Amino acid sequence: MTATKTAALHKGAPAPKDAIALLKADHEAVTQMFADYEKARSVPNKKALVAEICAALSVHAQIEEEIFYPAVKAALKDKLVVPEATVEHAGVKDLIAQLEGVEPDGEMYDAKVKVLSEYVKHHVKEEQTEMFPKAKASSLDMVDLGQRMAARKEDLMALAA
Ligand SMILES: [Fe+2]
Ligand SMILES: [Fe+2]
Repeated sequence: MTATKTAALHKGAPAPKDAIALLKADHEAVTQMFADYEKARSVPNKKALVAEICAALSVHAQIEEEIFYPAVKAALKDKLVVPEATVEHAGVKDLIAQLEGVEPDGEMYDAKVKVLSEYVKHHVKEEQTEMFPKAKASSLDMVDLGQRMAARKEDLMALAA
């Protein structure tokens, strides 16, 4: 392929995000979905938002566990931050399993969504204030990691669609 053609194909494509930018963008997106849930009143709206939240969190957790966490663990010789984050993921996944495919039926459903949002809020804070700064200061190639996660995310979302 000629250089001109390659340039044309890439024209308008967003610049690759580094790993931390990609994960932070996911965190922001899901935080917004939880805020939307708080305002949602109708059952169909709630159900659609929860489906969106669960799908986004599942894909996000999977790309972290498959790509980001092992890289961070190895680079930092970490025995603390990544294992703790992995345990928190298990708690998140447990609540997702309780919500997925379930008909919103009132206060217990809302309570589960609320607790899920609190778990996620806590977990995101730990990642962004502890794990990400350490990862950034390491020798990890964040652009390469970001590209690998973006590609995996695209595959997983295509599978879920
Ligand atoms: Fe995470
Ligand atoms: Fe995360």
